[in-house]
Amino acid sequence: MTENTRNGLVVVDNGEGDEALCNLSGNQPFADVLQARLGRRGVLKGSLGLAAGGLFGVGLTGCLSSSDSSDRSPSGSNGDTTGGSEVGPLLGFQGVPVSEADRVVVPEGYSYQVLMPWGEPITGSYPMFLLNNSGADQGMQVGMHHDGMHFYPIEGDDPYEGSSTDGLLVMNHEYVEPRFMHASAQGQSLNRGGVPVKGDGTRAADEVLKEMNGHGVTIARINKGLDNQWSVRADARNRRVTALTPMEIAGPVRGSSHVVTKYSPEGSATRGTINNCAHGVTPWGTYLAAEENWAGYFINKGARPREQSRYGVRSSGTGRYAWELADNGADEYVRFNVTATEADATQDYRNEAHCFGWVVEIDPFNPDSKPQKRTALGRFAHEGVVFHTAEEGKPLVGYSGDDAQFEYIYKFVSKNNYFKSTADGRLLDEGTLYVAKFNDDGTGEWLELTFGKNGLIPENDFANQADVLVNTRTAADFVGATPMDRPEWGAIDPANGDVYFTLTNNSNRDNNNRPGVDEANPRPQNRHGHIIRWAEDGGDPTATSFAWDIFVLGGDSGQSGVESQRGFVLVGDEQIPLTDDNIFSSPDGLWIDPASRMWIQMDMSEGVMNTNPTYAMMGNNAMLAANTGTGEIRRFLTGPLGQEITGVITTPDQRTMFINVQHPGATTTAEEWAGGELNGTWPDHDPLNKPPRSATVVIWKDDGGVIGS
Ligand code: FEO
Ligand code: CA
Repeated sequence: MTENTRNGLVVVDNGEGDEALCNLSGNQPFADVLQARLGRRGVLKGSLGLAAGGLFGVGLTGCLSSSDSSDRSPSGSNGDTTGGSEVGPLLGFQGVPVSEADRVVVPEGYSYQVLMPWGEPITGSYPMFLLNNSGADQGMQVGMHHDGMHFYPIEGDDPYEGSSTDGLLVMNHEYVEPRFMHASAQGQSLNRGGVPVKGDGTRAADEVLKEMNGHGVTIARINKGLDNQWSVRADARNRRVTALTPMEIAGPVRGSSHVVTKYSPEGSATRGTINNCAHGVTPWGTYLAAEENWAGYFINKGARPREQSRYGVRSSGTGRYAWELADNGADEYVRFNVTATEADATQDYRNEAHCFGWVVEIDPFNPDSKPQKRTALGRFAHEGVVFHTAEEGKPLVGYSGDDAQFEYIYKFVSKNNYFKSTADGRLLDEGTLYVAKFNDDGTGEWLELTFGKNGLIPENDFANQADVLVNTRTAADFVGATPMDRPEWGAIDPANGDVYFTLTNNSNRDNNNRPGVDEANPRPQNRHGHIIRWAEDGGDPTATSFAWDIFVLGGDSGQSGVESQRGFVLVGDEQIPLTDDNIFSSPDGLWIDPASRMWIQMDMSEGVMNTNPTYAMMGNNAMLAANTGTGEIRRFLTGPLGQEITGVITTPDQRTMFINVQHPGATTTAEEWAGGELNGTWPDHDPLNKPPRSATVVIWKDDGGVIGS
């Protein structure tokens, strides 16, 4: 995603690389910044690091150096988690080179298949994919623009244990590319975000319906056949959750005046979820869909309250897809115009935008269950949610990033303790929300966002906890959180509880009077992003302080000649330059598998990929694997043209991996589209009948081994 907001100012980022190469004059040279960091790391290792005990992967695995290669021998929870069968080295595959091919490339000895492309029927009357499918058809098919995802073993007892050949694949659909969806878009000059508009300025209602049904979440039963090929099975649990699905508002905001609408005068319900980027998996086997860049879908032509302006609800033009202009004027479409028009909030949709920006809980095993918006986790551009391993009798602790330039990282600690036999979504309705402050000395603090504390009081314009939560960003500003370089996915190393977060990039740090560099965000105009990590003090997930460090700075291997764009892994006191074998940019998707193997997914913007000299050497977006102990990183997979790689999970036996390819062909320009040209036709390579389609890729090792080993 490329649209960001800061203090209510909408910044349409036309692609990081569309700006000039960074000019370091007046800024601290990056070599100095990095050297200062490494100097501090030495101090940290000698004091805080020891105090924290086993800090980070380095501390855990002893004095591994880059020469230790990938041979991180399995021991304890860091090694064999596959039931006693053979386990290879953590990174045992031969890396693949950068690619600009219009196909998926996996390492030698691996194979893959495409599964569940956009438009594949999964439920209802199972309408087959056609260019002229109706809006209703789309509601029975896989949605568009696949993103975060989880494989739930079919037993339904544990989200990480059970069958490795049969389960529910649950995935988000972040947004849509309307030009690929509608017959009316053929031949029109439309870019990747453009929508067909009728001569009278309205939008065809069925096209709006199709786009709304292309959003949301897909739940589909899949299994592996005797031919080793995976396919969708008809199942009563197969379901589409869309931008129209009725949902409950749960937690402290339920019933507050902020969410009173014509649809729900009591402020307890809303319709739909949108822009679901990454996800979360609860220990009790439900799925969390995070609402990320929802704000731009709404338009307010009047005075925007802070709960809209601070998030980038639009004040001119139309909503992102102009859904509010549907030609039938139906209530479910016009609600995206949040301008106050009637006497009070029970008669219009002035508050509709406050029903979005939440984490949505969905029970994939109960098709009749109503999704719940869990408001206690805060309202912002939620990338996703990641939990520490739940411990019996202790609070559940999770983290969520707010993906926009200079936004924050949050932590939620449940009020009630987790007990496996009784745990359910109610654990997410009561708890404490914190926001992270990263101090330059390598320590950090979790600042509590609770009404009545830290100045979050009426005298400072916070009326109650619902007000704090609806205005999470404003509350975080007030308490002094650290503005970060676009927090994306988080991942937790199961071996030691270290938390990692991707910070994808931020071309505006130090630009235009924006915040300058700090130790946690050390690069001006951070083109390639980095991955930060922390260990909670005392190894206690509920701690209110932590020690942090940077694991890796994305970047090139010197091709650009720009020092601040070179990539480094930081291992102990060493800085290991990235090479052509593992350069990467814009880390976004992140997962650490049960063997502590890290998976890093790239999301360079469609506006810069393959063309901008800052990014061209990276080729297409790719996925890499890392050993956080040794600092070794290796490219595992490259994707086709125009896409990003996002979403990653394996079956419990780690023998099958699922990843998503999102928005293939998105680099097609408006002119190319109008002329019938496509920059990328993956996966069907049948442009006359099928546009490029997001799809899941199923990957296995030909010898049946653990993925990555
Ligand atoms: Fe939708 Fe932050 O990626
Ligand atoms: Ca993402």
